[in-house]
Amino acid sequence: MSKVSRLSGEDMIEHPFIEKKDIRSETCLTCHPEKKDAKFVHTALGMGCTNCHRVTSENNKTTITLLATGGDLCAICHAAKKNSVLHGPYKAGQCLVCHDPHTGDHPGQTRAEINTLCLSCHGRGQSNVKVNPETQLVALLGNQSVSLDDYRQAPKLELDRGGTSGHPIVGHPLVGKDPRNKDATLSCLSCHDPHSSALPKLMAAGVKSQTDLCAECHK
Ligand code: HEC
Ligand code: HEC
Ligand code: HEC
Ligand code: HEC
Ligand code: HEC
Ligand code: HEC
Ligand code: HEC
Repeated sequence: MSKVSRLSGEDMIEHPFIEKKDIRSETCLTCHPEKKDAKFVHTALGMGCTNCHRVTSENNKTTITLLATGGDLCAICHAAKKNSVLHGPYKAGQCLVCHDPHTGDHPGQTRAEINTLCLSCHGRGQSNVKVNPETQLVALLGNQSVSLDDYRQAPKLELDRGGTSGHPIVGHPLVGKDPRNKDATLSCLSCHDPHSSALPKLMAAGVKSQTDLCAECHK
């Protein structure tokens, strides 16, 4: 099945006809089984496709649209965080830039392993950054895109070659073991919250100040 890049709430789409009485997840999954078959499945999938997709069948024609677009769709079930510092893409409702709405290979259906996900906007001089000259959109993971303006607003990190160290200070590792928990690994989320924070620079919950942060791992 070919990949569909973008559906807006208003887009009319050609879809195989489904009888009204058959509009339920079981029917959908006969043709779209991959939407519920992966390592990590969004809990919402168990609640039914029609919680996000509006399906109407009339005059031998089935039309499928989204109930809402962008962050508004997610906000039907996920209330926005009220912290004082909100991450740009979170605030803008660009949830799909980081999350697949259905399934994925990573916890939270993130579109890549954490550091790769974050560095898709915060990496410097990435040779794989593609800008569409007509739309001025920057292609990101999973067929997603943001405007060149949004992309440029994301501060770029000066990392060491290979991108596995060099932040927040010279030589600091970004991968490996987390000294706080032997089962956890170091990543951007060791220090940052992906959505929001009470502190500047999206410091992870529980941290009281930046000095506190260092002391969590360095006695
Ligand atoms: C008989 C098989 C079949 C069933 C049943 C089915 N689909 Fe589809 N669906 C398709 C095909 C074929 C496409 C077109 C894929 C493409 O465009 O590449 C498609 C495309 C879609 C698309 C993308 C929009 C588009 O037209 O490309 C959505 C969203 C979708 N289906 C949702 C659903 C939902 C929700 C249900 C259950 C109500 C459902 N489908 C049931 C076969 C089916
Ligand atoms: C119909 C309700 C519903 C909608 C709409 C919805 N979610 Fe969820 N989502 C849930 C429920 C229920 C859970 C599990 C409990 C929780 O974490 O709140 C969940 C959990 C999650 C999780 C944690 C991992 C998981 O699957 O348990 C992520 C990430 C997530 N949702 C992202 C999104 C994004 C992004 C959108 C918009 C594209 C969205 N959700 C829209 C109901 C929904
Ligand atoms: C939490 C909301 C949510 C639920 C629940 C949901 N979808 Fe979707 N679905 C979306 C969004 C958002 C898109 C558009 C993705 C994009 O624009 O990148 C989409 C796109 C699709 C597409 C076309 C693009 C693609 O990724 O292949 C298909 C097919 C599809 N959904 C099928 C289903 C089926 C079948 C179910 C139920 C088993 C389902 N969806 C449940 C949110 C949801
Ligand atoms: C910059 C990337 C990014 C953006 C944008 C983003 N998220 Fe997340 N989100 C994450 C990451 C990373 C996690 C943690 C995943 C994990 O468990 O490792 C997460 C976790 C979640 C969870 C489960 C844990 C929790 O916080 O409740 C939900 C629900 C969620 N996101 C919903 C959303 C919604 C809704 C939006 C848009 C308003 C959104 N996310 C935007 C990266 C992002
Ligand atoms: C879609 C692009 C995009 C992705 C992906 C992304 N960011 Fe950002 N990020 C931005 C933009 C734009 C800003 C600047 C606006 C702002 O301050 O939030 C920003 C700002 C930040 C800031 C500085 C916030 C401040 O208060 O100055 C931190 C820290 C950050 N991001 C961490 C992360 C982490 C961690 C991830 C991965 C979970 C991530 N970002 C993924 C776009 C992105
Ligand atoms: C060991 C903790 C730690 C880890 C891991 C970490 N950061 Fe940071 N980050 C910080 C601190 C502390 C600051 C504030 C530095 C300052 O204000 O000079 C910061 C600042 C930032 C900023 C804002 C830079 C600016 O110029 O405003 C961004 C963006 C950012 N981090 C992204 C990331 C990304 C992406 C990752 C993963 C690749 C990551 N961080 C991993 C601690 C960390
Ligand atoms: C999530 C845990 C964690 C946090 C938070 C953290 N570090 Fe680290 N840091 C490590 C690990 C792991 C290493 C590599 C092993 C080691 O040297 O202890 C390291 C190494 C270092 C090194 C040696 C780097 C080198 O060149 O070898 C310095 C200096 C350092 N950290 C300073 C800081 C400062 C300053 C902060 C606060 C801004 C901080 N760390 C926050 C986990 C952390």
